[in-house]
Amino acid sequence: MPGNPDDGVTDQKVNKSAYWNAIYEAEESPRWSIGVAPSLKHWLETSGAKPGRVLLPGCGYGHDAALFAEHGYQVVAVDFAPLAIERARQMHAGARVDWRCADIFDLTQTDAAAFDYLYEYTCMVAIQPARRAEYARLCHDLLKPGGRLIGSFYNHGREGGPPFDITREQVDALYRALFKIHRLEVTPHSIERRQGHELWADFQK
Ligand SMILES: C[S@@+](CC[C@H](N)C(=O)[O-])C[C@H]1O[C@@H](n2cnc3c(N)ncnc32)[C@H](O)[C@@H]1O
Repeated sequence: MPGNPDDGVTDQKVNKSAYWNAIYEAEESPRWSIGVAPSLKHWLETSGAKPGRVLLPGCGYGHDAALFAEHGYQVVAVDFAPLAIERARQMHAGARVDWRCADIFDLTQTDAAAFDYLYEYTCMVAIQPARRAEYARLCHDLLKPGGRLIGSFYNHGREGGPPFDITREQVDALYRALFKIHRLEVTPHSIERRQGHELWADFQK
């Protein structure tokens, strides 16, 4: 299957919220938690996109979610690690965000075709690689017709994970049948250690 480099059983651990919650328990600032992603800040300031309903799957501490809210979007931010959602609520107490502790793969039961935007940031690379086609389909099904998937895919080029590396070719193969791909290219707007490794995406359902 394209975009499916490894479906080893050891990777199944990432399907469990307990795996992620244990990391949040052990480290208050996990390495992935970088604050607002520079590429999102740039997009919000320059794209001229009309605010609408946006979903952030695997939102972690929700810095990007709070920024969307500041820009007038109606935000639903989802993570299945209870500690991530608890801390996101505390950190962004004044933000108008619907924080939900839930498995994103269950969302089509309640939120099918409910979003104008879906923002991808380090969620695709957090899920088990064997589930990538399922995840791409989920993103499609959660968006309204004409809805946009924007965000970044992390092509770090290393073995193992999470984060599990994903290449431009793999992203293209996973999403091309489901979306019109307006843009998929390396962004110059990354934190230093991710420079040159984040592919900015703008897809339309
Ligand atoms: C690498 S972290 C990134 C968090 C956040 N996007 C950030 O950049 O700080 C991945 C997050 O996705 C969450 N996650 C992974 N699989 C999930 C699932 N099936 N449903 C909901 N959240 C999930 C994890 O709990 C974790 O908080």
